[in-house]
Amino acid sequence: MGDPHKKFVKDKFDRIVRNYDLVNFLGSFGQDVLWRKEVARELSSAEPPLLDLCCGPFTLSKEIHKKNPSPMFALDLSLEMLVYGMRKRAFPGLFPLCGDAEELPFKDYSFGGISIAFGFRNLTKREKALSEFYRVLKPGGLLVILEFSRPTLPVFKSLYRLYLHYFMPLLGGILTGDKEAYQYLANSIEAFPSQEKVCEMLKKAGFEDISVKTLTLGVVSLYKGIRR
Ligand SMILES: C[S@@+](CC[C@H](N)C(=O)[O-])C[C@H]1O[C@@H](n2cnc3c(N)ncnc32)[C@H](O)[C@@H]1O
Repeated sequence: MGDPHKKFVKDKFDRIVRNYDLVNFLGSFGQDVLWRKEVARELSSAEPPLLDLCCGPFTLSKEIHKKNPSPMFALDLSLEMLVYGMRKRAFPGLFPLCGDAEELPFKDYSFGGISIAFGFRNLTKREKALSEFYRVLKPGGLLVILEFSRPTLPVFKSLYRLYLHYFMPLLGGILTGDKEAYQYLANSIEAFPSQEKVCEMLKKAGFEDISVKTLTLGVVSLYKGIRR
């Protein structure tokens, strides 16, 4: 793997896999379950097959499968995540793949729906990735991106930053043994583009009917776009 950022991200996720879901659940006060349900609802009527990118241990893949039991390809850079997920959450019609979301190993017009939860932030070539998502979607196909954003409410904003930079690395460090992975989480959230910029990127990639929904006071945003 030539890209040092990609290697860093892959190594971090390989390391934290065991308690990854638990940290998400505790760290978000259970909100992460609701965020993923929201994505699953959006994709409930998407045409088969589906693609879940940066799928981790299939946390979102499984949630989508409950609402839309179409065949689903689930791709992640971390083999450890996929292996752990297969032990915990395998379901009929799931096709796991170890690969890079920036270079998809699929033909044009392959999928009716694509999801990517908390993975887009980790990509370095986001424009290229979006053009890949567009390429492999069928006409009328739906892209749903779930990603952290930055709350703007004055007091909440400051409390959230303290929580993100101090409490999350502490919690993540204790439960996964890798505090640095959660310092990276905080820094990557701070560096991630605004909602407006993400929508612009979607538009530039060719998506239409773009919308963004703010969840949990701006902690997370859900973006949608259609491939025409
Ligand atoms: C925060 S986890 C999200 C997992 C899952 N989507 C969820 O909702 O919990 C991000 C995942 O993205 C994966 N990832 C990071 N960069 C990637 C890339 N370039 N291609 C594919 N997967 C990538 C990581 O290995 C990790 O499993």
